[in-house]
Amino acid sequence: MASNLDLFGDDAPGHSGRVELGPQSVVLRGYALPQVNALLSGVDAVTEVAPFRHMETPGGYTMSVALTNCGRLGWTSDARGYRYTREDPMTGQPWPDMPAAFVQLAQAAAAEAGFPDFAPDACLVNRYEPRSRLSLHQDRNERDYGAPIVSVSLGMPAVFLFGGDARGDKASRTPLFHGDVVVWGGVDRLRYHGVLPMKDLPHPRLGSRRINFTIRKAG
Ligand code: SIN
Ligand code: FE2
Repeated sequence: MASNLDLFGDDAPGHSGRVELGPQSVVLRGYALPQVNALLSGVDAVTEVAPFRHMETPGGYTMSVALTNCGRLGWTSDARGYRYTREDPMTGQPWPDMPAAFVQLAQAAAAEAGFPDFAPDACLVNRYEPRSRLSLHQDRNERDYGAPIVSVSLGMPAVFLFGGDARGDKASRTPLFHGDVVVWGGVDRLRYHGVLPMKDLPHPRLGSRRINFTIRKAG
């Protein structure tokens, strides 16, 4: 577990290495750092067409995380449930294309984690602010559990929860920093995961925000 001091060291040189979270899940420390400019330009291009918004859960809550999507399919939530759609329900337009930098990074990270031939078609972009949280959940709206999930973290640090196949299983807590990439798939594909309520630890570049995007094969 990192100390508080480490939470500010995310841009330090040498921020690299692997943390195994399970047999087929790994944190690749700093893996996205060389691509940060292209990734942030990609986020801007996506949110210009499909702005961040706070969706409703089927249970009637408003999510504290704001989200949008890019790629052929986008994840949405409303009173009727969770699902993937081809159009942004807010605009009626197709979700914006997935930026090439997202696809390239996701494929390289997936291969690094033991999943060659990853062909993503969906990317959920989440924006966290202080106190935003994501409760434990499984990513199970995708058709094909053979493909991994690739998760890229930018901005403020967060504490990532990684549990088991049942909601009640004990979850490990791993800090995620600007530039970290997490990949989980195979036997770990349906493990519960989430994010603890965010502390306000402003990032030099992104301020009091964390952007996380998860790249998937949904269709
Ligand atoms: C997610 O599960 O969709 C996001 C995880 C994260 O923000 O690290
Ligand atoms: Fe998730």
